[in-house]
Amino acid sequence: MSTGTRDIPLAKPLLDGREEELVLEVLRSGRLSLGPTIDRFEDLMAERIGAPYVAAVSSGTAGLHLLARIGGLGDGDEAITSPISFASSANCFIFEGARPVFADVDARTLNLDPDAVEAAITERTKAVVAVDMFGYPCELDELRAICERHGLALIEDSAEALGAEYKGAPIGSQGPSGVFGFYPNKQLATGEGGVVFTHDEHVWQLVRSLRNQGRDYEGGAWFHHVRLGWNYRWTDVQAAIGIGQLEKLDRLLSLRAEAAARYGQLLGGSEVEPLCADDDDHRRSWFVYVVALPPEVDRARVMTELRAQGIGTAEYVPCVHLQPYMRETYGFTDGMCPVAEDFASRSLALPFFPQLEAEDQERVVDALRNAL
Ligand SMILES: Cc1ncc(COP(=O)(O)O)c(C=O)c1O
Repeated sequence: MSTGTRDIPLAKPLLDGREEELVLEVLRSGRLSLGPTIDRFEDLMAERIGAPYVAAVSSGTAGLHLLARIGGLGDGDEAITSPISFASSANCFIFEGARPVFADVDARTLNLDPDAVEAAITERTKAVVAVDMFGYPCELDELRAICERHGLALIEDSAEALGAEYKGAPIGSQGPSGVFGFYPNKQLATGEGGVVFTHDEHVWQLVRSLRNQGRDYEGGAWFHHVRLGWNYRWTDVQAAIGIGQLEKLDRLLSLRAEAAARYGQLLGGSEVEPLCADDDDHRRSWFVYVVALPPEVDRARVMTELRAQGIGTAEYVPCVHLQPYMRETYGFTDGMCPVAEDFASRSLALPFFPQLEAEDQERVVDALRNAL
């Protein structure tokens, strides 16, 4: 039920005539899969993020799965990841038979705490999947040093972080191999899709083979499969949308940053805690606008009140290790990652997208303040 004023969704992509034009070109070309538009998108993306190799895949999850596969994860192995993430950052190696181990997050950044990662390493640990959560870069140098010291693979789940910068350089430009995702709420939205970025030519070639049913990346006959692979191909129609989005990415990112700054001002003096600010080493790419409510506040009631006024909101995000299938399969219980669990119990996402209007943000913040 809403009160007559227009609904404000949680997320909404900004698409215009340019995407329509590019999609029409692809439709008229008849090259809908494995066509030149995907190659063009990959080249443009590689240039944009400063990575030598980029391979488009059907989703961020698909890209993470292929990196877990290439990382050699399998039965009996453990991989460490973050409880404050989307399920894919753990699922990607569970698909390969490895067991998830969750290290707690840093209370400020909500990304993996390197000390907690180091403490979680056992003789079975084979990889770390680090997440740039809410578009905030993870502690890449420290995690890389830990992984090198212990001989572990490092995969960067940057699904939420296109446009973010670590130590002054774009995510993707400094290794390790990782992914971006293009679901409609993402900074670059194509419906579904993602890319693997890597600095390792062999990893890139393997991704190109594995995404295409294990066909040889060198080319070769259509019915010639050199390894077990998947159909994780993207389509040229999605790539066309992606090119339109890439062309305006700077504007999309600055509109998001402006909307975030406006929320920051509007929420000034309120009891909610915003996401952490940038510092010299970390520059956030704004993906969602999430706040932590004071512990005594009944979040469900706040959400009900916002929704009653047509305002999109969500618990963002529940801990991955406490999802029902995780509890059932691995026996994970409350209390394993106290910092993450505290945040997850209080977090709330507000409507956030590039074209969000100032007056709608005022309405959201008024509604939130009233509910509090
Ligand atoms: C942190 C994180 N990892 C992975 C994914 C998976 O991406 P996709 O939905 O494209 O499979 C998402 C998407 O929501 C995400 O937020």
